[in-house]
Amino acid sequence: MVELVREMYLAHGEGKTVNPPSYFLTLPALPSSRIIALPGATERVAGVKWISSWPSNTASGLPRASGAILLNDLATGYPIACVETSIISAARTAASAALAADVLAGSDRPARVGFIGAGLIARHIHTTLTECGWRFDQVGVHDLVGASADGFLGYLERTEDSGKGKRFDDVGELIRDSDLIVLATVAATPHLDNPEWFGHHPLVLHVSLRDLAVDVVLDATNVVDDVDHCLRANTSLHLAEQRVGNRDFVAGTLYDVLTGKISRDAGRTCVFSPFGLGMLDLALATAIYEELRDAGRLQTVDGFFHELDRYGR
Ligand SMILES: NC(=O)c1ccc[n+]([C@@H]2O[C@H](COP(=O)([O-])OP(=O)(O)OC[C@H]3O[C@@H](n4cnc5c(N)ncnc54)[C@H](O)[C@@H]3O)[C@@H](O)[C@H]2O)c1
Repeated sequence: MVELVREMYLAHGEGKTVNPPSYFLTLPALPSSRIIALPGATERVAGVKWISSWPSNTASGLPRASGAILLNDLATGYPIACVETSIISAARTAASAALAADVLAGSDRPARVGFIGAGLIARHIHTTLTECGWRFDQVGVHDLVGASADGFLGYLERTEDSGKGKRFDDVGELIRDSDLIVLATVAATPHLDNPEWFGHHPLVLHVSLRDLAVDVVLDATNVVDDVDHCLRANTSLHLAEQRVGNRDFVAGTLYDVLTGKISRDAGRTCVFSPFGLGMLDLALATAIYEELRDAGRLQTVDGFFHELDRYGR
């Protein structure tokens, strides 16, 4: 999965993908909810990811996000598959975070990780990091909701990091005590506003995009997945651009890191902010579709397209 995501970032950097801006459907009656459409295309397939975010779901233990991908055949344009996507989305997000952590940390992998926001995405990122060979001495956890922190610590006890989990009620203390920090909250506006917390220059995976205050962003080496995508929708980087009036504080993209154009400056905090590109979901969904097709395990709907003769014969 991580290899597939790496290939897609390289393809994206070489202009071989199509990724128009995501469309955010907001609902006045449900201000905390939204549904995002992410259209896109790779060299093999086109399609759209349609993913809902209902934060109120988590109170009952139901995952926040749900969605589906429609894959379109490039030969005819016909939709060929409808694929469940909440897990694909979590998996590609975790793979992208693990890839970025890998290339930005190099051989100097941090052993103290801290998770701020302890939901489904945080769990997938921890799983993927450990599957990619990361070993931790301490796994710190901070969440505004005690049940979420407890749920994450319960998950950790079922992994090889059993006994390494540590709950922090003070977010500043968690940041100071972690060299790799994963931000996976649902915060709509920046809440990590003390640059001194980052004085030890950690590597930050800013997956939830809106947690860091502008001063923290401006102090850091910023790496993104796509500059245009990432500097919109009031992300922390978008707010930074609005403050300074330029994009000079963005060092480059993950493609630039993968191709050796830029690297981490150990004397600065390094922040990776991935907006999340639809082409990653499409590539993963295509790989799953093809594996199931080749194994004869597709669930087909016979007659779904019932008028396939233009002349009605
Ligand atoms: N960039 C990407 O590609 C990408 C992809 C998928 C998800 N995401 C983002 O990841 C985030 C997490 O998703 P999830 O499905 O795990 O959500 P979730 O609702 O399961 O978990 C989020 C957790 O954050 C906690 N939280 C909210 N505000 C907080 C704060 N200020 N401090 C500490 N904790 C706080 C909540 O209590 C909750 O437990 C979302 O913002 C989502 O949009 C990003």
